[in-house]
Amino acid sequence: VTDRIDFDARTAWNKGAEAYSKFIESGADYYRLLVHGPELLAACGDVHGKRALDLGCGHGYFSRALANAGAQVVGVDLSDRLIDRARALESQTPLGIEYHVVDAARIGERLADASFDLVTACMSLQDMVDPAYVLLAASRVLTEGGRMVFSVPHPATDPPHREWLRDGHGRKLSLCLDRYFEAGPAVCDWNMKRLTATWQTPCWRFTLTQWSAFVRSAGFMIRALSEPHPSSETVGAHPELEDCSRMPYFLIFDLMKPGWLRTP
Ligand SMILES: C[S@@+](CC[C@H](N)C(=O)[O-])C[C@H]1O[C@@H](n2cnc3c(N)ncnc32)[C@H](O)[C@@H]1O
Repeated sequence: VTDRIDFDARTAWNKGAEAYSKFIESGADYYRLLVHGPELLAACGDVHGKRALDLGCGHGYFSRALANAGAQVVGVDLSDRLIDRARALESQTPLGIEYHVVDAARIGERLADASFDLVTACMSLQDMVDPAYVLLAASRVLTEGGRMVFSVPHPATDPPHREWLRDGHGRKLSLCLDRYFEAGPAVCDWNMKRLTATWQTPCWRFTLTQWSAFVRSAGFMIRALSEPHPSSETVGAHPELEDCSRMPYFLIFDLMKPGWLRTP
C-alpha cells in the first residue's frame, strides 16, 4: 500500500479483473483459500436455506462458497468485468446465484428492506469509499435478528508502514509496523509475484476504534470478532502460511441486527 492517489474504483477493479480472478481460481491466493475464506464461511454458521447478500462479491468467490453451503445468494459488485466473470462461472456451474453491478452503498435503491437473513463482505468493505454508510444500508436490507459477517485486513497489521525484517537467508524475523493511527485513503498495489499482472486499487485504512464506531452507528451488535490464522498442522503442510500463523493478517466481524433496532 502506497500513498494516496485519486482514481475511480470501478476502472481500477476492471483493470485488475482478469488477473484478480486468475489469482483466486489458480489457487495462488493461499491465504484466502486456506485461512480467511473458510473461517469467514464458518463464522456465517448454518446458511442452508438462508437468503444471503454478498457485498463487493468480485468474481463470486465467497458467493459460491455460500451457495455451495445451501444459501440463496445475490452478489453485488461495482466492477462489471468481475461480475461478467462471476456470471460466466455461474453459467458453467449453476448454483442459482444472481449477480448485479451495483455500488454497495446503493443497495437500498435495488433491494427491499428486510429481504435478507445474512449480508456478507469478504475483504471488500475496506475498498469502499464509505463503509459506515454501506453497513447502514446492509442493516436495512436485513431482517431483525439477521447477521452481517465481514472480513477486512487486520487494522493492527496493515498500517502505512509494514515490513518484514529478514535474515541473510530471506527468512522472516519480525514484522515492523508503524503509523497505525494514520487512517484514511490509500492505494493498494497489487504487485505480488504470484499475480499475472500488476494494478492498483483505492482502499481506506481504519483503526479498530473506527470500525467499531461504524458497526455501532449502523445499529449492529457484535456477536464475535475473530482473527483467522492457520494451525501448526496446516503450516506444516503449507509452509507458505507460516507468516500469518505469527501475526493476525485478517479480522472477521460477526454482527447481528437486534430485533429492537428501528433503522433510521
Ligand atoms: C479485494 S476485492 C474482494 C472481492 C471478493 N469479495 C473476493 O473475496 O474475492 C474488493 C471488491 O470490492 C469491490 N468494490 C469496491 N468498491 C465497491 C462498491 N462501492 N460497491 C460494490 N463493490 C465494490 C471491488 O470491485 C472488488 O471486487
